[in-house]
Amino acid sequence: MNTEITIIRPDDWHLHLRDGKMLAAVLPYTAKIYGRAIVMPNLMPPITSVNEAEEYRRRIIAARPEGSNFEPLMTCYLTDATDPEDIRAACAVKAFHAVKLFPAGATTNSDNGVTSIKNVYPVLEVMQELGIPLSVHGEVVDPEVDIFDREAVFIEKVLIPLRKDFPELKIIFEHLTCKKAVDYVLDQDEFTVATITPHHLVLTRNDLFKGGMNPYMYCLPVAKTFEDRKALREAATSGNEKFFLGTDSAPHACKNKEKEGAFAGIFNAPTSIGYVTQVFERCGELPRLEGFTSIFGARFYGLSPNGSTITLTKRDEPVSMNWLFKAGEDEVKIFNPDTPLYWELVD
Ligand code: NCD
Ligand code: ZN
Repeated sequence: MNTEITIIRPDDWHLHLRDGKMLAAVLPYTAKIYGRAIVMPNLMPPITSVNEAEEYRRRIIAARPEGSNFEPLMTCYLTDATDPEDIRAACAVKAFHAVKLFPAGATTNSDNGVTSIKNVYPVLEVMQELGIPLSVHGEVVDPEVDIFDREAVFIEKVLIPLRKDFPELKIIFEHLTCKKAVDYVLDQDEFTVATITPHHLVLTRNDLFKGGMNPYMYCLPVAKTFEDRKALREAATSGNEKFFLGTDSAPHACKNKEKEGAFAGIFNAPTSIGYVTQVFERCGELPRLEGFTSIFGARFYGLSPNGSTITLTKRDEPVSMNWLFKAGEDEVKIFNPDTPLYWELVD
């Protein structure tokens, strides 16, 4: 029985770091585990230009703990008004590792997102030509569509037609949550890949309502059924390089989680790698962990794996930590679902 595993240092291919005091409070948790991260651009206001991305990158670097080599990989927030020539210029200086599509109104801080995919076709044309990936929040926003079907409907309504029009556009289908999405990605060629989060490997929609309504299990896309979770676990542990880790760690102040209209987003950075390791162990696939966390994503983004390693150990008793911490005046809660966690990083 494995009780310890050493893997190439992982990367986080989908991360929300926020800014200011929140950034300062959450970054050390990520920097301790991950070598690099794709940093989501949904600040208020969003990161839409090379200058904004460069300034944000500098703030992240400045917030790193002493001695940390953590490397933020910047992204651009796509809007109806994004100028294709700006993306071309940004590519020339390698300012962005991806351009993020948030359908307007689909999730937290997505008000400036794209209102119709056709509006950004000229930008996608340039992206396809230059090989810069489109990172996709794959949910429709139609209020008539059941919230648990929004990812599946997005595939039919947006992704399939988009793929027809842009056969060689690199697409990362972010934070998959349903079996239909897994099957879709499996069906595609090498231009379509996907990230999977720790929480979607652990939760089902039952967790949202277990023992009463639980906003700390609420993120978008929302967790789905047991069958969907099984498909995600199979995809993640399959050794198929189309699937890799993106934590979607998304901190919010407790006051914004515990209110009417609670914000979507789960802050999982501290427990993320432990839960992923635990899922791989329970599926009997620990030897495939490293590919999912540390190799496949780097390969897709054209980068080498990190040059260092981390070690995780399995404890006899569940992992415990201070689940609440301060970010300036605010408190933030760490992802601590009903499933006890046994794996943790060895310092
Ligand atoms: C994210 C956030 O809070 O920024 N929320 C979430 O529920 N995942 C945005 C996102 O990735 O959808
Ligand atoms: Zn996200």
